[in-house]
Amino acid sequence: MSKITAAITAVGGYVPDYVLSNQVLETLVDTNDEWITTRTGIKERRLLKEQGKGTSYLAIKAAQDLFKRGNINPAEIDLVIMATATPDMPVATTGVYVATQIGAVNAFAYDLSAACSSFLYGMSTAAAYIESGRYKKVLLIGADKMSSIIDYTDRATCIIFGDGGGAVLFEPNNEGLGLQDEFLRSDGIGREYLKIDAGGSILPASKQTVENSQHFVFQDGKTVFKYAVSGMADVSDKILQRNNLTKNDVDWLIAHQANKRIIDATASRMELDEEKVLVNIHKYGNTTSATLPLLLSDFEHKFKKGDNLIFAAFGGGFTWGSIYLKWAYNKQ
Ligand code: UT7
Repeated sequence: MSKITAAITAVGGYVPDYVLSNQVLETLVDTNDEWITTRTGIKERRLLKEQGKGTSYLAIKAAQDLFKRGNINPAEIDLVIMATATPDMPVATTGVYVATQIGAVNAFAYDLSAACSSFLYGMSTAAAYIESGRYKKVLLIGADKMSSIIDYTDRATCIIFGDGGGAVLFEPNNEGLGLQDEFLRSDGIGREYLKIDAGGSILPASKQTVENSQHFVFQDGKTVFKYAVSGMADVSDKILQRNNLTKNDVDWLIAHQANKRIIDATASRMELDEEKVLVNIHKYGNTTSATLPLLLSDFEHKFKKGDNLIFAAFGGGFTWGSIYLKWAYNKQ
């Protein structure tokens, strides 16, 4: 019997309507369009402004887009994995609420959290369920409402992040398409450089933590940048070598959209031509768990059955890794 592989069979995406441009940021903090563009590649990002709406809203919209584009019946889904760093609430599992709202009435659901690598790790998890033969349709959603944890007076972070959601469906494939190999890493050294100090079990929320702005993302950008450049380039290079792939064998690089310079460094290590490197950071900024599925959603029309896609991500923790996946369908 041939091995079951786990293929992506449908994609969806969603970003909120509100656009936060570099020009507007210039009025909030001491920054300018030229600095942001040359240092990050970002021109604008989307923010979910409506009161009372959280990450689940982005996730539901992305899943609904997938159902429409892929003509999928939600009742057939076995499992919903919600990759996010910004759950609706600390305890009530966001993925469970999302599954119910989208009509995945026969599925179980849970959240998976690994900062900006949440979706990449989720791909590994979703694929393993399919490869095991236990489940046939696994919906992986990556969504984050980063605006809920960003301090819009801190120019080190507010210029980078945006809100968004994306979703993919994994199903068994008997032609050998889908996930081929993965190389996932983590290192707790990263905890000091990218974090939210308060609101967890070490430092629960208090009047003082709020007054000290300790519920916002802190990032030592320079240090994270250094680790991200070497981390993402190393694992991407490694996955090519391990699978005897040359730069000509790679059709598309799907890299976490944290900084255009990090994406360029990864592509350069792989010696990839520019047209193979998919980029939408200029439109959305860093949407954390949503960057990879939003790339798939935006560029689905370009992929051909059998194309070799290399995914790469780097995030807080630190967490990082690379996945090699063969695309499984042509979009009509
Ligand atoms: O997705 C999770 C992983 N996260 C990442 O991968 C992010 C990694 N880090 C980065 O992308 C970059 O480090 C940043 C975009 C956050 C910052 O870029 P940088 O090139 O590392 O800038 P820097 O922090 O070294 O600052 C360079 C200069 C400094 O001025 P001086 O000391 O040279 O006079 C900063 O004060 O730029 C200044 N600066 C700014 N100027 C205008 C820092 N932030 C800003 C700003 N606008 N927003």
